[in-house]
Amino acid sequence: MTKAFVVGHPIKHSRSPLIHGYWLKQYGLDGSYERIDVAPVNFGDFLKSFRSQGFAGGNVTIPHKEMAFLSVERRTAQAERVGAVNTLWIEDGVLWGDNTDVAGFMAHLDASLGTGWEQDVETILVLGAGGAARAVVAGLQNRPCKRIFVANRTLSKAEDLVRDLRRGSPVALETAAWEALPRVIPHAQLIVNTTSLGMAGQPPLVLDLSRAPRHAVVADIVYVPLETPLLAAAAAQGLRTVDGLGMLLHQAVPGFKRWFGVTPEVTPELRALILADIEAHR
Ligand code: ATR
Repeated sequence: MTKAFVVGHPIKHSRSPLIHGYWLKQYGLDGSYERIDVAPVNFGDFLKSFRSQGFAGGNVTIPHKEMAFLSVERRTAQAERVGAVNTLWIEDGVLWGDNTDVAGFMAHLDASLGTGWEQDVETILVLGAGGAARAVVAGLQNRPCKRIFVANRTLSKAEDLVRDLRRGSPVALETAAWEALPRVIPHAQLIVNTTSLGMAGQPPLVLDLSRAPRHAVVADIVYVPLETPLLAAAAAQGLRTVDGLGMLLHQAVPGFKRWFGVTPEVTPELRALILADIEAHR
């Protein structure tokens, strides 16, 4: 039997076991995927010992993603760009780390908008400059758009992000001050919220979308609630919207493939299962 885990602190609320459990059942695989609560002081020991406990690898979540980044022996290019690792596996005895949020966000955009959506997109606006923003920018900068603006309440964090990700970027990366948003929005064909604003219990993200391009797409990575105030405002303006749940589902795909050897599908049934769980725990 192949065993995988999600490790975090706390870990009770992780939905990853539901996602991987669904796929294990769906594909009739002899495997398990379990939650493991490990405090930060013990995380280094956990990384050394999970192999001897029979695990093939697993997911890493808050607060261990940066520590995992520093501790793995090899990293994928995506992990390198983001500076955080959320997926671990062993290959030829070597501990590898990936950041599958990058591929997860892009796969979700492609699935939602249809491949080739970038053809109409020259300018992208990303709001936020945390770990999630890095994953989103790292994915978008490999697509044929012209420029990506990164706006953040704390401008210095946007500057750090742009400095780190600009190296080797085929796309121009620029910062935008939060106060400058009204001047950027009219040019942005894709707007992505990666901040925690709009999440249940947080204030909403209020943007004036009245001057956004008519064909603009507004995406949110927040998925509780599924329709954030930002997405509701975008829909009210007649703009296309992309919700945050798909990124959660798609980021799980590469890990499952590594540990269990099958590329799983993100199906409407899986989406409905996770949505029902979100509703049940609100
Ligand atoms: P993650 O790893 O999920 O991206 P994070 O690193 O804590 O989480 O980043 C949270 C993001 O939400 C940051 O960009 C943060 O802005 P600051 O860098 O200025 O803190 C943003 N954010 C959180 N609360 C906010 C608020 N009230 N207004 C504007 N931005 C906010």
